[in-house]
Amino acid sequence: MRPAFGRVTLRPLDELTDTDWRRLQSHFRDPEIAYLNGTPPNRMPLWLLKRLLKTDTRRPDRATFGIFDERGDFIGTTELYDVRGDVATLGIIIGERTHWSAGYGPEAMHALLAYAFDALGLEVVRLETFGDNLRAQRAFRKVGFQEVDRRVDANGRIDVRMELLRERWRQLRSESAPSASGPDLAERSA
Ligand SMILES: CC(C)(COP(=O)(O)OP(=O)(O)OC[C@H]1O[C@@H](n2cnc3c(N)ncnc32)[C@H](O)[C@@H]1OP(=O)(O)O)[C@@H](O)C(=O)NCCC(=O)NCCS
Repeated sequence: MRPAFGRVTLRPLDELTDTDWRRLQSHFRDPEIAYLNGTPPNRMPLWLLKRLLKTDTRRPDRATFGIFDERGDFIGTTELYDVRGDVATLGIIIGERTHWSAGYGPEAMHALLAYAFDALGLEVVRLETFGDNLRAQRAFRKVGFQEVDRRVDANGRIDVRMELLRERWRQLRSESAPSASGPDLAERSA
């Protein structure tokens, strides 16, 4: 299963090369990315990180993909987690700074959301982000997410909750460029 949209292709983690895994580790270790995600920088050795993430791929409540750009370079990860019934939570890290604010995040989300709503048949995709992550909120709004709640968390940071319903996603897709319902949304086989 390789969901694709625009310049981006999503591939399952078991297709990552050693170079991709080293890049993924550097993304997880990056202090700024860790701050944006509200986690401490990951200090695990590569073999352990790889083992944990690969074990996670067998969980029925989670679908994690590597994000690849138009040159086939690994640029980050995105996932649906806490998949329960017809609801899931979206996570995304474009780990390569060279690819920030260049539309790759929204394209990866379009691919993941097509997978979530069309292939898995989910009704709602949720996410949480921090109030100071304006780039993320802007990207999430672009693909149709709407803010549903905002509150101060236990650490004093503003926690923003957003969600997107399948009906709204389909409506927005049908209103967007003709290519949105065409080959871009197809799975790529190579
Ligand atoms: C968040 C993320 C997925 C967004 O993907 P992206 O590809 O960078 O998103 P976009 O290309 O749509 O760019 C974001 C938009 O925010 C704007 N933006 C960037 N920094 C901004 C800031 N400080 N304030 C307001 N807007 C900002 C950009 O100009 C762009 O808007 P535009 O296209 O209208 O010019 C990606 O940047 C990323 O993974 N960042 C690191 C980890 C992270 O924050 N993950 C999300 C945790 S919830």
